[in-house]
Amino acid sequence: MLAGRHVVLAVSGGVAAYKAAYLARRLLEVGAEVRTVMTDASRQFLGPQTLAAITGSAPVLGLFDQEEVSPHTTLGQWADVIVVAPATAATMSRLATGLSVDAISATVLASRCPVVVAPAMHTEMWEHPATARNVATLIGDGCVIAGPATGALAGGDEGLGRMLDPDEILEIVAGAISPGAMYGWKILVSAGGTREAIDPVRYIGNRSSGKMGNAIALAAAEAGAQVTLVTTVAAPAHRNIDEVQVESAQDMADAVWKAAPQVDAAVLAAAVADFRPADPAVGKLRRAEGLPQVHLEPTPDILAGVAAMVDRPYLVGFAAEVGSLEVAIEKAQRKGVDLLVANDVARTGSGFGTDTNEVTLITPDGATEAWELLSKAEVGTRLIAEIVRRHQPAGER
Ligand code: CTP
Repeated sequence: MLAGRHVVLAVSGGVAAYKAAYLARRLLEVGAEVRTVMTDASRQFLGPQTLAAITGSAPVLGLFDQEEVSPHTTLGQWADVIVVAPATAATMSRLATGLSVDAISATVLASRCPVVVAPAMHTEMWEHPATARNVATLIGDGCVIAGPATGALAGGDEGLGRMLDPDEILEIVAGAISPGAMYGWKILVSAGGTREAIDPVRYIGNRSSGKMGNAIALAAAEAGAQVTLVTTVAAPAHRNIDEVQVESAQDMADAVWKAAPQVDAAVLAAAVADFRPADPAVGKLRRAEGLPQVHLEPTPDILAGVAAMVDRPYLVGFAAEVGSLEVAIEKAQRKGVDLLVANDVARTGSGFGTDTNEVTLITPDGATEAWELLSKAEVGTRLIAEIVRRHQPAGER
């Protein structure tokens, strides 16, 4: 995965810097081209000559003290991926604020590639609200935070804050530039079936379990995306998933339309009611009052609202059909989506409540691609990889 790829190894000033030498060696062993950059403080822990001897080229040590006119931009533009290992609290703070005062922070600022940050610090520093803020900012910026682990720390202490082992960091660096990676992406997913109130205790609902939408959200989060999951069911726990609970089609429309302009792709997997009681009763309808008449009115078409947005995200719709694909093919052309995922809910192993799904991808030009029966988790992972393949966010990595 890393063979022939350009890796910038950035070393900041913690005792774990000695392990960066081994990480450089491991990166070279798997075929990566490695260049290094060091802060002043890191040289208290690791000699530049060590990195030069291992990689064959001298580390960048500062912004001004070498022959290169602009070492940080040269390095930032050369990099396919940057790994900051170890990343001290101070370095993370500079990365989070864009304060390019040293060779590492300037190189990261001058790059467009994925950045993997491997924190190493004492537990108190890692758990401090200031560090937590910086970590949240870095995640929001699309950085991959690798670790830390629990174990021996500097000065004989023990606890959370130890840098991950170089081999673990290597795996994460490889994952960050793998073809399905979504680091830096923002994704919106809708899931579950909406509930339309008849009165305060009754509603019109549908059979959707939310499993397909949840699987898509989880797959995107595991691929590194920041996910907004607008849902009527419980969301999977993942730190990259921001859960927005809704109930009705109108709630879902409001939440989806608010989030859609900020995301790179929207996958609308929810089963949205097409009709709702026009005039839901304020109090509970009583049996003694006789048979109620429930008049219906249309709900907003959420998908159509997103499709009509200027600068809309890459848009994936779902179509639950029964029988032939003809209707779904026509829907893919009519709905203004980039991709429609159709499934026949009447088939065994497909549709509501099952853990498997058999779907067909349809593009607006009418092209279809049928997938075999897969677990919903696999459909989610493959769909996310398809979205990455079919759509790269403008100006992104
Ligand atoms: N959808 C939506 N808003 C609605 C209804 C549906 O955004 N009020 C979305 C669903 O989330 C799904 C897609 O539209 O991604 C297709 O849903 P479907 O019910 O098949 O579409 P309809 O236009 O309602 O199709 P039909 O003509 O079969 O009623």
